[in-house]
Amino acid sequence: MGDNMSDAWAAVMAAGRMPRADGTAPDTIRALFAADPQRFERMSFRADNMLLDISKTAIDARAMAALLELARAAGVEERRDAMANGEHVNVTENRRALHMALRAPVGASRASGGAAVAAEVHSTLGRMHAFTQAVHGGALRGATGNRFTHILNIGIGGSDLGPVMAVRALINPASPMQALHLGNVDGHGWRALLATLDPTRTLVLVASKTFTTQETMANAVLVKGWLAQTLGEDKAASHMAALSTNIQACADFGIPSERVFPFGDYVGGRFSMWSAIGLSLALALGWDSFERMLEGARAMDLHFLRTPLAENLPVLLALTEIWHVNALGLSHRAVLPYDERLRRLPAHLQQLEMESLGKRVTLRGEPVPQATGPVVFGEPGSSAQHSFMQMVHQSPQPVPVDFILIARPDHPWTQNHRILLAHGLAQAEGLLAGKNADAVRAEMRAAGSDEAAIEKLVEHRVFPGDRPSTTIVLPRLESFTFGQLIALYEHKVAVLGALWDINPFDQWGVELGKQLANPLLAQLEERVVKPGQHDGSTTGLLREILKLRADG
Ligand code: F6P
Repeated sequence: MGDNMSDAWAAVMAAGRMPRADGTAPDTIRALFAADPQRFERMSFRADNMLLDISKTAIDARAMAALLELARAAGVEERRDAMANGEHVNVTENRRALHMALRAPVGASRASGGAAVAAEVHSTLGRMHAFTQAVHGGALRGATGNRFTHILNIGIGGSDLGPVMAVRALINPASPMQALHLGNVDGHGWRALLATLDPTRTLVLVASKTFTTQETMANAVLVKGWLAQTLGEDKAASHMAALSTNIQACADFGIPSERVFPFGDYVGGRFSMWSAIGLSLALALGWDSFERMLEGARAMDLHFLRTPLAENLPVLLALTEIWHVNALGLSHRAVLPYDERLRRLPAHLQQLEMESLGKRVTLRGEPVPQATGPVVFGEPGSSAQHSFMQMVHQSPQPVPVDFILIARPDHPWTQNHRILLAHGLAQAEGLLAGKNADAVRAEMRAAGSDEAAIEKLVEHRVFPGDRPSTTIVLPRLESFTFGQLIALYEHKVAVLGALWDINPFDQWGVELGKQLANPLLAQLEERVVKPGQHDGSTTGLLREILKLRADG
């Protein structure tokens, strides 16, 4: 680490942990608000109609200056521009990270993530559009002449989580097609879907960047067999399409080239729902909605590329994470979208952030000197308030929260939405304000409790407060704002990669399990446990399972 970076890190850590130069402890978040009536105005930022409020964190002027200096020292802008320009920023796989090009219009400059691969991106988009129109218009039908009414997307990880999340977020109840997703290799998932699917009306998309992922290919073979039972061996493939970078493997699987929608190896799985991997979205949501989603992401791309660091939403969100993880040592973060349609957002962010940022070495292969990505978890509010929010309010370890609030709903039940918003705002307010023992006593006295009962319960009812959160507000949840929101988090991940000097675009950590599964699969098939091949626990568990599966 160069001197500049070491100094910048030292300043950030000092702002978080050390007493101030005059010996006083850093201000609490409550004190920062008390000292600055304009704090919300100063610490909330906009991109188009999106508002990001980071005022409910302990980032004060000194911390913000240190964080911005860290961003400069880490070369965040240079690394952002290198990514947009198509440099091989994914150094361990020697690949570009050009997901921004997937939503750049024809003619967009290279510096704005466009030109390098524009022709192939738009060729695939054109084919996806034509395919969607043919399916919706009925020109493209099933082998028996029925219209397709269901899409089954088979894929896992980035070939599943983004599309699942987006369909749930944006589906129009009047949509002519229903999208279902088969991710897990667990056959119970397939059994649950079988009941709702008619093979003569089902279009199957095999979504796999590599077209070698064991779970996806096992499911693809299973589903192809199911199609063949009704349609005949020769017709099964006419109900299938492939979304992949591996054209040869798609052909080997029997999917004709006109049904293969390609994308480049410069698109990482967790950044891929804007590519051919999004075909289930175009079919289920309609082409206009899919295009608006790309436009929303593009708007966030332009904001990210053109806005100074100090007002740049992805940069500020990333710096807030650095503050919490590194300066304050908080290893978890909760995500609470106050919109049931965003219920799969936390799962998508888990892959996007934890697969990208859970890294142990820097770009040069040296140990990362500080903690990297936090554990991300979440659920929609207000339901989450009735499960893990107890811990967030009262456990000794603070957990920063991302609140996502949508001002206007797409349903007519206004009072429900007011209640929802009130709960979201109240959670963030309560985390900050807390409730001290005197307030608890006063409250209990007013409710008629006697002094003995009060003293027995008072500490249980205290909230420490001063707990950090950030809040994103969107006017409505629709394709454009949804695209903005997801791109915001994508760019936050890229910025954190630069700040921690790690590669956020590879995922070597998932390889070991894949390798070890093969010999275990063989032993499950052959029903033999080879001595000395595994640790004692794995051998014992394998023996136990084989005993319990005595019949196969
Ligand atoms: O196992 C991790 C992973 O490689 C993810 O990064 C990826 O999104 C997922 O598997 C699926 O891979 P593929 O799209 O190649 O089937």
